[in-house]
Amino acid sequence: MGAAPQTPAAPAAPDFELTAVRHEYRAGGASLTGIDLTIRSGEHVAVVGANGTGKSTLLKMLDGLVFPSAGEIRAFGLPLTEDALEEPAYRRDFRARVGYVFQEADVQLFCSDAFDELAFGPIQLGLSEDEVRRRVREAAEELHIEKLLDRPPYTLSGGEKKRVAIASIITMRPRVLLLDEPTSALDPRSQVWLLDLLADWRREGRTVVMATHDLSAAAEAADRIVVLSEEHTLVADGTPEEVLTQRELLLAVNLIHEHTHRHASTAHRHAHAHGAGADPLATHGHTSAIAEVQQQRASGGVPAAPTSP
Ligand SMILES: Nc1ncnc2c1ncn2[C@@H]1O[C@H](COP(=O)(O)OP(=O)(O)OP(=O)(O)O)[C@@H](O)[C@H]1O
Ligand SMILES: [Mg+2]
Repeated sequence: MGAAPQTPAAPAAPDFELTAVRHEYRAGGASLTGIDLTIRSGEHVAVVGANGTGKSTLLKMLDGLVFPSAGEIRAFGLPLTEDALEEPAYRRDFRARVGYVFQEADVQLFCSDAFDELAFGPIQLGLSEDEVRRRVREAAEELHIEKLLDRPPYTLSGGEKKRVAIASIITMRPRVLLLDEPTSALDPRSQVWLLDLLADWRREGRTVVMATHDLSAAAEAADRIVVLSEEHTLVADGTPEEVLTQRELLLAVNLIHEHTHRHASTAHRHAHAHGAGADPLATHGHTSAIAEVQQQRASGGVPAAPTSP
């Protein structure tokens, strides 16, 4: 970097632009290759792909935790490199704009109690004690974890940890949220509540990039779905309708599989999706857990959000 500090300030630039990006954890073995991807401000993008296709690697790259082995990534109009992140002004601005919720909450949570987890980011941002407490209280209310704030993270259930991890990011009020498998560990009611939260963030104009194998959550939460293949390349990019109707493609990338059903003496096959929620393609007897909760909620049978114990 030169003497003049760069800050990510170009207003009209996309949030992220990846050009011919390749990433290798070890020489010779790509975890991502040939990735061209532009993510504009306010978009909600789901990155879907089978295990090991590179979803988490892609999110870590958007968060400046791993860097291209070849090709280029730009964030907010400026190159996102290790050198750029060493500039204090650039790093502060980038970290304030972008929040990343790890796939495994255990990797993210390190404080002695949930309150400190939520307060950590705002303290790093240099906010006053009153403002830190206000943000912790608001995020705890939003995530329904008020009663968990004095608990050490290791005593929390998987779903509670996930909620604390999400709250610890939103206390920093990032305009870009990177969510790695956000619906994993959440029960159907909490998944619906998360989807409602994502809808709020869309109204607020925040950018969301989420990695998931849950095609129904992707269909529900994203306006755009990109598909990673087992060769670590982008093989589809479009609206949920455009992508999720490509049955042969979804079969080829192992996001759905052929499933044989037997009824009395007849057997037949249809496509079947994995994931915590619905099979967006199946029309035969598979009811979405998410859709079920939404129906119950519409009829007044389920509370709007999970409550802390
Ligand atoms: N720290 C690492 N060192 C070496 N290889 C890694 C490392 N992290 C990931 N990989 C490899 O990179 C590839 C992509 O991994 P990544 O975690 O991005 O996949 P994913 O799509 O998020 O998978 P999952 O659905 O299981 O979460 C995999 O082959 C994985 O084994
Ligand atoms: Mg992953």
